[in-house]
Amino acid sequence: MIEKTNSLNKKDTSWSGRFNEPVAELVKKYTASVGFDYRLAAYDIQGSLAHAKMLGAQGIISLDDVKAIEQGLAEILQEIEAGQFEWLLDLEDVHLNIEKRLTDKIGDAGKRLHTGRSRNDQVATDVRLWLRATTDQVIAGITKLQASLLDLAQAHFDTIIPGFTHLQVAQPVTFGHHLMAYVEMLKRDAARFADCRKRINRLPLGAAALAGTSYPIDREMVAKTLGFDGVCENSLDAVSDRDFAIEFTFAASLVMTHLSRLSEELILWSSPRFAFVDIADRFCTGSSIMPQKKNPDVPELVRGKTGRVYGHLTALLTLMKGQPLAYNKDNQEDKEPLFDTADTLLVTLEIYADMLRLPVVEGGKVVKAGFMVNKENMRKAAFEGYATATDLADYLVKKGMPFRDAHEAVALAVRHAVDKKVDLSELPLSTLQEFATEIGEDVYSVLTLEGSVNSRNHIGGTAPAQVQAAIARIQAEIVQNDLLVIAKK
Ligand code: ARG
Repeated sequence: MIEKTNSLNKKDTSWSGRFNEPVAELVKKYTASVGFDYRLAAYDIQGSLAHAKMLGAQGIISLDDVKAIEQGLAEILQEIEAGQFEWLLDLEDVHLNIEKRLTDKIGDAGKRLHTGRSRNDQVATDVRLWLRATTDQVIAGITKLQASLLDLAQAHFDTIIPGFTHLQVAQPVTFGHHLMAYVEMLKRDAARFADCRKRINRLPLGAAALAGTSYPIDREMVAKTLGFDGVCENSLDAVSDRDFAIEFTFAASLVMTHLSRLSEELILWSSPRFAFVDIADRFCTGSSIMPQKKNPDVPELVRGKTGRVYGHLTALLTLMKGQPLAYNKDNQEDKEPLFDTADTLLVTLEIYADMLRLPVVEGGKVVKAGFMVNKENMRKAAFEGYATATDLADYLVKKGMPFRDAHEAVALAVRHAVDKKVDLSELPLSTLQEFATEIGEDVYSVLTLEGSVNSRNHIGGTAPAQVQAAIARIQAEIVQNDLLVIAKK
């Protein structure tokens, strides 16, 4: 970013005639947004092209002017893409920088581009165009992460891990089932973005500064050219509404919440105390003092960056709460939180999609390290916490005992097993029968981890067969209701 100020004379600024002294240097820096809104340049040009085309079609400017504008803007886009465009702080923002360059290139035709338009409806249009494209990238990023999780879930559809409540071993679950919980969260996230996209995809242009314009404009035409679903129907709302930015940032916050929860688990699971999983080295760092350390930096940062995105959501909500209609300069502060939210979310999704991928194996050899799962340690941990105690209670209920009595009988059996430092399945039948005479030889099949997970065989349950069914369902949904396609409809 070139933040060069030049010595423009007063007539070079768009509103200069009214002023008796130039804007103070510090105030210029304070009020300028070009340092960050230059990112909207391609969308600003796209919006200007659609606006110019409509002005020409309506006979508001000549078709020769339209041609000159198109030619000039195409050259400017090339200059920007080649990194040759000189952004000037004196020209305040992306809009005035591009317009000034256009006028330098094509003269009066450039000065006619702003007919029937204001920077207020222009910036709202630019941000919506940028956010629409960004939303599509986010949905694609979520789908990619889901694909990695689905592969992992498939590979571990019957791997047993302790399921926790209160972070205490509760009941055995399949690791595939656990992973699929995150796939579900991400499914809701993608749907939220697809829904938010509908409200992003409305055209503010035509609202001009706030009241509309007296020129015979055709807003529907501009909306159509830009791929918007329709126009914003109230000019005051059109220039001042930033709900779509808040919604996007909320949807992003919720994705980050989900990824932060997953991060917390990954941090626990990869600690030597758990040793359930191993994150590939390229996502971790060592310690400069403790040679044995391998730190899960990426999950920790995801957990940390979640706070940063929440901060942006709070910033945007607070930005809007005190603003009277219509446009206020406050709105310029919408961009940095929004840009940073999108940047943070997109890179997080990309890194997680890679970090949670299965290792790539070719000819029996790992050619690219991936997410490793230590099945033995997961299994051992499931045994350590008397995870099948509920299964024993359910077994007694099926033999006719009321559930509350069964619960108490099993609690006593667990206490005995804890004292003896053995698992329930290691107690001899005669010992088990001391707690409930109903217990027979067939009890051992329910006390196994496999028996426990297999018995939870209904939709939403943890049985391996259900994990496979859930994977198939989601895979079909992702293919059939391609959210990106739906979002664009
Ligand atoms: N840079 C401004 C923004 O981001 C553009 C709109 C400025 N409009 C105005 N009347 N000053 O909001």
